[in-house]
Amino acid sequence: MIERVKSGIPGLDEILNGGIPRRNIVLLSGGPGTGKSIMGQQFLYNGLLQGEPGVLVALEEHPVQIRVNMAQFGWYVKDFEQKGLFAIVDAFTGGIGEAAKRERYVVRSVDDIGELIDVIREAIRDIKAKRVVIDSVTTLYITKPVIARNVVMQLKRVLSGLGCTSMLVSQVSVTERGFGGPGVEHAADGIIRLDLDEVGGELKRSIIVWKMRGTKHSMRRHPFDITDRGIVIYSSKILVFGHRTVREEV
Ligand SMILES: Nc1ncnc2c1ncn2[C@@H]1O[C@H](COP(=O)(O)OP(=O)(O)O)[C@@H](O)[C@H]1O
Ligand SMILES: [Mg+2]
Repeated sequence: MIERVKSGIPGLDEILNGGIPRRNIVLLSGGPGTGKSIMGQQFLYNGLLQGEPGVLVALEEHPVQIRVNMAQFGWYVKDFEQKGLFAIVDAFTGGIGEAAKRERYVVRSVDDIGELIDVIREAIRDIKAKRVVIDSVTTLYITKPVIARNVVMQLKRVLSGLGCTSMLVSQVSVTERGFGGPGVEHAADGIIRLDLDEVGGELKRSIIVWKMRGTKHSMRRHPFDITDRGIVIYSSKILVFGHRTVREEV
């Protein structure tokens, strides 16, 4: 039996046949506003509740803003940070500003992948992290697509090597069908895609598991909601575009 990490996100472990195989590097891919950051934060917070320390690598938002956003869903991380069970790696501010001076893990230059990896490794070791979310990896190579695969492979070696199960947020444009480029897609152990589509004049959220090494998984597109407690996936429903309906699985 393979060991699995329970995301604790309602519906997700069901469509993953019990959870994410431990040490997998999962690409969490989707367009803007599809819920990638929220899903990553929920995965980490649920880990804290299960006794698994977590690291969030913030490349796109100020760590202060992330704590505020998480609190909106009832995910209060301050206590966990103080107890050394949760850490935010600040790869956003470059150490500039008053608030940044209070951050413990700061990456001065994100162009230096070596420095980024060193800081991530330090945070993981300090708190004995079991879960890591990088939000987003796209930021690391958007201007230099040729290094994308290399960056992801380096991250994979470190994260998986230290025993962590990870979600790498990957940004795609609204119309793009892929998950963040061939190098990245093939390097990842898993690909979960979040979508937002206009169906009958209304935006509908859905999730599909494209790939997950080490396990069977649902091959269907499931609708989900973002509630004031986070993401809820309807694992027994399917979103069917052609028919413009969401129907119950039979
Ligand atoms: N408290 C909330 N309740 C319901 N939906 C929310 C809430 N907060 C944010 N959202 C939805 O989540 C979206 C942002 O999700 P986010 O994870 O930041 O997207 P992404 O990281 O994929 O760009 C918003 O556009 C909004 O639709
Ligand atoms: Mg985001």
